[in-house]
Amino acid sequence: STDTVGATPPMGWNSWNQFGCDISDQVVREEARALVSTGLRDAGYGYVDIDDCWQAPERTVDGALQADPTRFPHGIKPLADYVHSLGLKLGIYGNPGARSCAQRNRGYPGMSGSLGHVQQDADTFASWGVDYLKYDWCGADEYGVDRTTAFAQMRDALHATGRDIVYSINPSDGNALGATGYWDDVATMWRTTGDIKPVWDQGAAGVVNILDRQVGLAPFAGPGHWNDPDMLEVGVVPGGYTASYPGLTDTEARAHFGMWAMLAAPLIAGADIRHLDATSRDVLANREVIAIDQDPAGIEGTKVRDDGDREVWAKQLADGSVAVALLNRSATSQPMSTTAAEVGLAADTTGYRVRDLWEHDSTETAGVVAANVPAHGAALYRVTPIDNPAQDAPHTALRLDG
Ligand code: DGJ
Repeated sequence: STDTVGATPPMGWNSWNQFGCDISDQVVREEARALVSTGLRDAGYGYVDIDDCWQAPERTVDGALQADPTRFPHGIKPLADYVHSLGLKLGIYGNPGARSCAQRNRGYPGMSGSLGHVQQDADTFASWGVDYLKYDWCGADEYGVDRTTAFAQMRDALHATGRDIVYSINPSDGNALGATGYWDDVATMWRTTGDIKPVWDQGAAGVVNILDRQVGLAPFAGPGHWNDPDMLEVGVVPGGYTASYPGLTDTEARAHFGMWAMLAAPLIAGADIRHLDATSRDVLANREVIAIDQDPAGIEGTKVRDDGDREVWAKQLADGSVAVALLNRSATSQPMSTTAAEVGLAADTTGYRVRDLWEHDSTETAGVVAANVPAHGAALYRVTPIDNPAQDAPHTALRLDG
């Protein structure tokens, strides 16, 4: 791979999950400052991503994209400079067709897609200092655009700018396995589902509904190339764009965040960081959980047991440890357990250290990992062979060639 970004899953903030189209220069600056003051920047959340609805209805006379003059009165370049001055990077949003999703589906004015302007738009983004592009498919085939060609074209256009830009795509391809396998040569990360919403279990949009669509996708992930089960709903509150959803309880938010770490998912916070409650802040900033997500081996976790409402997931880590999640999807607390063998650890007569990543304490076990897991909760552990962990490391091939 020639990728210089995305060696571990990208982390940051994005405007969509809480704000929808209701964004502005001022909101983005305040969110960037809040990432710094809450410690989230220093925990790894480095990208500040503007989603849909930043665009002016018309291009310039030269055909260049420009920002909405009312809500982004200074344009994007000074905003990028400001975000960079805080030690953060800036993301922006585009589309391969003629219209953005909000322009096609939500009445947002204009036709700001990159159709006929692919290299020009990539050059514009690079000239503004953009570090991350979300490229979002909504019915571009209506304009004769071919999906696979269009996403590869923007990849090549971004590459031609010479700037390191995370390329985050939403191919909206229904998560067909064959198609997903294709995208790892195209993008830093690709969406594997429709939009997530701040709810535990509802239709296709709740946390567990999105999780169910990740089964089978682990082989496609690796350093530089990540399955994207969509952005985080931790701390997103009902209102505005999210008014018809309940939001997640603290227990659900922990389970959501923990399972996304197990998936080696991009960790893109969707909440209003300016008004983040203390529990959500602590969930997002949990460095031991983040370390599972950001593990340098880049191996996506998989479900190793499914007992209906109770699931065991395992993720192999670079140091020979295994991250283990005991996920209880039911509405009552449940006793759950797994074994070192079930999660793929070699037999170790000395036993294992079990680090609880929510409680931040360690115990030892001969092989059984057990907990009483709350309703809609996930216990999360890092399990390490006590004897010579390096020798016990799984011999999983790293995919470094993209
Ligand atoms: C659909 C995407 O899935 C969302 O994340 C968001 O980018 C909207 N489009 C914006 O219109």
